[in-house]
Amino acid sequence: MREVEVELTVVPDDCDTGGSVGHAPFLRLFERARWEVLAHGPGIDVFARHGTWPAVRRSVLDFHAAVRAGDVLRFQQALTHHGRTSFTLRQTARRDRDETLVATGEFLFVCVDSQGHPQPVPEEVGRFFSARPTGEPIDRITVNGVSLAIETRGSGPAVLFVHGFPLDRTIWRHQLDTLTGYRRISLDLRGMGRSDAPDLGYSMATYADDLVALLDALGEQQVVLCGLSMGGYIAFEFLRRYRERVRGLVLMDTRAEADSAEGRKARDTLIGRVREQGAIAAAEAMLPRFFTPTVPPEIIQSIREMILRTPVSGIVGALSAMRERPDSTPMLATLVGVPTLVVVGQEDMITPPVISETMASALPEGRLVEIPGAGHLPCVEQPVPTTRAVLKFLQSLR
Ligand code: MLT
Repeated sequence: MREVEVELTVVPDDCDTGGSVGHAPFLRLFERARWEVLAHGPGIDVFARHGTWPAVRRSVLDFHAAVRAGDVLRFQQALTHHGRTSFTLRQTARRDRDETLVATGEFLFVCVDSQGHPQPVPEEVGRFFSARPTGEPIDRITVNGVSLAIETRGSGPAVLFVHGFPLDRTIWRHQLDTLTGYRRISLDLRGMGRSDAPDLGYSMATYADDLVALLDALGEQQVVLCGLSMGGYIAFEFLRRYRERVRGLVLMDTRAEADSAEGRKARDTLIGRVREQGAIAAAEAMLPRFFTPTVPPEIIQSIREMILRTPVSGIVGALSAMRERPDSTPMLATLVGVPTLVVVGQEDMITPPVISETMASALPEGRLVEIPGAGHLPCVEQPVPTTRAVLKFLQSLR
């Protein structure tokens, strides 16, 4: 997916009497940015040339910081879903002088003719937004009809890293950078990061099917599967379906139980809030519970931005998939021959250490490592001891 940039200056006409930019003018700014970018690509007449028009069917706007007349805003637009007659653009606006993310918008378009009948999305539009800029370190693979962003490093026995909710593959940066001697693979799950975010098609089974298709595409028969939180739920589903592909397992800050009735209600509430307010609702729900009080503010900020970049369809899809996941506790005792490392941040509020202790003792080949000074994301908050624990486990498998 290509993130195409354009700069616009906020003019007094964009501002209300108090001097700030409200909802409707921001929608116009996002619209201007879209047309401006098309003018630099396939041309602003690209839809007219095909006898069609991109009608906005849904828009979700999140505001993060105020802007005023004279501010120069940098707009990025990325295609997050490309169907036959519809497509979704995620747009972000940053203030140029200090890089502050000021707004994100997500727009679902349906191409229609003059009678309002759906028409195919012009090919040039998809091509323009989907082209990969040169030098981008990530790769893309299309599996099960969805284009996934992936990263692979090194060679040796393969380790597949699966992130949690609502994050992306970059939480594994330290592990990918440093676990030399192994083929490290990470991906953005469908609906998150830079992967496509279809409107439908989210379940633990679909995520697991995406992983196996990815391994097939990369020619990896067996892997060590390392899943954090929701990534752990996916790992359980993967084991249910493709156990012969797993030579070892790392379960990080996760649990085997399904959601309780209360947990399912909380998922529904968050789904409603995300539909109404956008990704900001997920950021507000998750961020206060991710870290220890001593985490550096830059880490909180980068995870916040990661969540804010996540498309609404991907967040809602993941929440429904987690809500519906089955109980995997009966599976634990059956995992004979699957060496498993259970890792947990000592101060994890979402999956507290007692959950990991119980899980590790129910596993026939389970061992537990607690990471001091870490909350729910030890790979980010305490990367060095986390990577060390994973390395020690990997070495024990040889
Ligand atoms: C995650 O980190 O993936 C989530 O906290 C999992 C969950 O909400 O159950």
